[in-house]
Parts: sequence; structure tokens; C-alpha cells
Amino acid sequence: MSTKAAGIPVIAIDGPSGSGKGTIARQVATALAFHLLDSGALYRLVALATNRREADPADEENIASIAASLDARFSTDEYGSEQVWLSAEEISAELRTEECGLLASRIAALPKVRSALLNLQKSFRQVPGLVADGRDMGTTVFPDANLKVFLTASAEERAKRRHKQLNDKGIDVSLAALSRDIEDRDRRDSERSVGPLKPAEDARLLDSSNLTIDEVTLTVLDWVQEIEWQ
Ligand code: DC
Repeated sequence: MSTKAAGIPVIAIDGPSGSGKGTIARQVATALAFHLLDSGALYRLVALATNRREADPADEENIASIAASLDARFSTDEYGSEQVWLSAEEISAELRTEECGLLASRIAALPKVRSALLNLQKSFRQVPGLVADGRDMGTTVFPDANLKVFLTASAEERAKRRHKQLNDKGIDVSLAALSRDIEDRDRRDSERSVGPLKPAEDARLLDSSNLTIDEVTLTVLDWVQEIEWQ
């Protein structure tokens, strides 16, 4: 496989929360032995750092400077689970809370925060290749990606998946409240002026509502086979 003229191959997987893109991106990256960028984790890290410093989430300059100086590190524990570090602290569990996701969605609407994270995201593009998961991977961060996938699922299905995930962790939340949160977050992510959640013009759309995770992964891997890597 040769690389695209612009550089190292990138597969962009974008979509709303709960579409399954995180799991799919991880499986595709593992199958291809590519690096993985979980860009949502970067926005969540900024949200967490904002909380820790008790900063005002509407103070764009300050949040952008927190983003620009983010001391983040990703690693894998001995069981293969992803670990995320903020400075010297392992914060993977906190990063995945609904509260952190909602704050991430708010600060992600600030244009200066998005541009502060741009180079950090691009720096994940390393040989032999990258699978990048997010909202604007195919439109803004890697517009020259070799394959762009836009993964969707109905809001109802996404709320059900999230409900099951939280229930499995022993966290009790109402399905109705989760549906409302998902719809609010979709609206905010889609309506913001910079890097909105929308498919790139050349993205392939994939609705995962009635598919298993493995079926979605195989579809993406089939598409990877069709690409002319030049
Ligand atoms: O994928 P996630 O749920 O971990 O993302 C958390 C929030 O970060 C999400 O509500 C929107 C924002 N985000 C973004 O604006 N752009 C990205 N590329 C990734 C995430």
C-alpha cells in the first residue's frame, strides 16, 4: 500500500454520539494496524481541565489556552484497555461521564478551542496510517482523508445503546432523559458555526441502526479494500 501524495493514509470516521464510531474506529484501526485518534477524548480532556481549574466554560480565550497547553497522554493497560492521562492523573473513567460529554460539547462550539486542538489532532497522522474518529475529521481536520465514513443511527437507537452501556455499569438514568440529552447534543454539534457535525461531500454514509458492530466494521474494511491508495 503506497501513501497518498499529501502524506500518510487516513480513514476518517465521523458521526453523532452513540453511532458506534468509537468502537468501529478502534476495530478498523486494529485490523489495519493503524494508529487511532479519538478526537472526542481531546474535547473531553479540555472539558475536564476546565472543570478542574474552575474556569468559566464561556471564556473562549481562557478555554482555548487550556486546550493549547493540554498535557494529555494515551496508553493501554495490561488488559488492552485504553488509559487517558491528564498530567500525571489517569482520568479515563471521568472522561466518559455524561457530565463531561455535555461540557465537551459546549466548549467544542468555541471556534478558538477548535483551532487550538487542530495541530494536536493532525500530529496523530503517523506511519503506517491513522483512523480518526470524531465529528469533523473528514471535513476540517483531514479533508484529504483516503476514506471518509459518516456513521449514523437513529436518535432512539443511540439512546437505547447508551442506556444499556450505563445500566451495565450500574448507573441508573432514564431513557427519556438520555434521549433528550442526545437530541440537545446533536443540535449543538450540528448547528455550531465551526466544524459542525455534517458529512463531508465525499463521505460514504452508513446507518448502523440495524447492524451489529462487526457488520459495520466489515463494511468499512470492504470499503478500505476498494480504495486506490495512491
Ligand atoms: O465523541 P465524544 O462523545 O467523545 O465527543 C464529546 C464531544 O466533543 C461531542 O459532544 C462533540 C465534541 N467533539 C467535536 O466537537 N469534534 C470532534 N471531532 C469530536 C468531538
